Amino acid sequence: MQLGVCYYPEQWPRTMWADDAQRMVELGITHVRIAEFAWSRMEPRAGEFAWQWLDEAVEALANAGLKLVLGTPTASPPKWLVDAYPDVLPVRHDGTRWNFGSRRHYDISSNTYRRECVRIVAAMAQRYGRHPSIVAWQTDNELGCHDTVPSYSDAALKRFHAWLRQRYETVDALNDAWGNVFWSMEYPSFDAIGLPNLTPTDANPSHLLDFRRFMSDEVASFHREQIDVLREHAPNADLLHNFMGFFTTFDHYRFAADNAIDVAAWDSYPIARTETIALPDEQKARFARTGHPDVSAFDHDRYRGVGAGRFWVMEQQAGPVNWASWNPVPAQGMVRLWAYEAFAHGAELVSYFRWRQCPYAQEQMHSGLNLPNSELSPGGLEVRQAAREIANSTALSTLAAPARSAVALVFDYETQWMFEIQRHGKSFDYQTLAFDYYASLRELGLDVDIVSSRADLSAYRLVVVPSLAVIDDALVAQISRSTAQWVFGPRSGSKTSTFAIPGNLPPGALQRVLPIQVLEVETLRPTLTPALAIDDMQGSALHWREHVRANGETRVAARFDDAWPALLMHGNVRYVAGWLSHELHRTVLRQAARDARLDTQLLVDGLRIRRRGGLTFAFNFSAQPVQVPAPAKATFVLGEPRLKSGDVCVWQDA
Ligand code: GAL
Repeated sequence: MQLGVCYYPEQWPRTMWADDAQRMVELGITHVRIAEFAWSRMEPRAGEFAWQWLDEAVEALANAGLKLVLGTPTASPPKWLVDAYPDVLPVRHDGTRWNFGSRRHYDISSNTYRRECVRIVAAMAQRYGRHPSIVAWQTDNELGCHDTVPSYSDAALKRFHAWLRQRYETVDALNDAWGNVFWSMEYPSFDAIGLPNLTPTDANPSHLLDFRRFMSDEVASFHREQIDVLREHAPNADLLHNFMGFFTTFDHYRFAADNAIDVAAWDSYPIARTETIALPDEQKARFARTGHPDVSAFDHDRYRGVGAGRFWVMEQQAGPVNWASWNPVPAQGMVRLWAYEAFAHGAELVSYFRWRQCPYAQEQMHSGLNLPNSELSPGGLEVRQAAREIANSTALSTLAAPARSAVALVFDYETQWMFEIQRHGKSFDYQTLAFDYYASLRELGLDVDIVSSRADLSAYRLVVVPSLAVIDDALVAQISRSTAQWVFGPRSGSKTSTFAIPGNLPPGALQRVLPIQVLEVETLRPTLTPALAIDDMQGSALHWREHVRANGETRVAARFDDAWPALLMHGNVRYVAGWLSHELHRTVLRQAARDARLDTQLLVDGLRIRRRGGLTFAFNFSAQPVQVPAPAKATFVLGEPRLKSGDVCVWQDA
């Protein structure tokens, strides 16, 4: 459980660096990330490198005993580069190009830009790759942020052609797979295929899906070029990238596998994220100063499942930020609580963004651990408290890595893309549905691993699949061998891998373990609310509902008020034939957990618990004090059973 901070020496006079480093150490910080936007200072003119300032900054920080994470600067190409090669600017969906003047203004498919990136990364890595204090390298910054992937450039089109050729071999096979006979969309050759933008109405969904797959691969291959350079010159450092919360533009499982990253790091801004995701307004209001209790946990659990299991929080909100619709000051205690929350979910390092608020440029309204005048901010004071608590507690400072949970929640990036391509109703969003299932499990006090559908799921006792567009034979084989309880949500098995409806109707191959057929589907405006009750819990379908036929031995466990099945069961497999109101999801999952012989406990509103290494952490996101469900004989290693608002406690079962 280590604390870090993001620091920008290039934004401050040299005379401040040593003092800043000293103050970081005094605060209890061990890691500092630098340099990820400093290309114009590293290479002020093409081929002219200016390393002295960075040498000095690295030494100032290393001399204080800090460990460094060095960022490659490829998220912000300098002006001379853009002027020399204007085609590195990405092309947007509407065919126009982004301008220079902020960041991320590059085309991920541009061979020129890829060459320039390899050049700067190699120069940096040759100079700093074996520095003993540089323990990790971060590549680029938040790939895909600001909607900069996909790019609709000529470079992207060329590479897309090559990608399609490899996937389909012949254009006839492609025409067939995409169903191009529809509307006379057939192509005479691969080179005749365009990008799926600027069409009068919807482009072919198969075309869109392949373009998204291609762009996802582009992100991974762009990144891979940096990884190859870094592995060669920095063989002992951890290599990582800082991913984003609630972000699905590329397949993070494939990215991590293709790049063999050592740590999955991500950037956690709980209050701003709560403001930007599709939550009911009442919840946004209730958690406006704390963040929704599951919003960061969801991504902690997701990123623990991306890559080999090690994860860091590379940027942690330290106070009010600048980029959501509203940016309130966090409730007292939250800046400290978020660190413990990340640790409870398995983070090795929580690094705050940023050391000091910058008084100029785009992020001057974004707080840090220090005010612009170097006085510790309220967030900075909370970080100091957390650092001292951890240092003074053997139980906390020697915490083991988290064990596998009993519950898996399958999250799938392609499913997000497919249902974005054809939402069918404007309020259907797969990630939001997955989050609703996740929050339900967490309210029942369960620890959850978020995993890929391709993972080995055999050790789990409850596997929750909020939806999975394509169900393949490998997954059906896993289910057939499994004694776990399985819960599938709506739209599961509704598509083939080329984006068509399965010949035997949805849920496609899942019918082999769950004999049902989905006859019709509907999306629901807010006034259409098919009602139902499960276990005395009343509710309705929202957003989406299916008309399902139960075949064979399948049992209908609950029906909507118009008699269509709502919950279907066959052996250890359940199917939920709609997006149900939140309490109904929780009820279904509670039944499944009971059948899996897992203990559940409905936590009071705003309380969450998480176990790690023999300890249980409890977090109070509500505005009232709560009593935590610790056993009578528990020993508290932090705090006490009565938990104030915004507070955390940790106990060891006796
Ligand atoms: C992140 C980004 C940082 C900074 C921060 C502000 O998305 O990586 O560079 O902009 O947001 O919250």
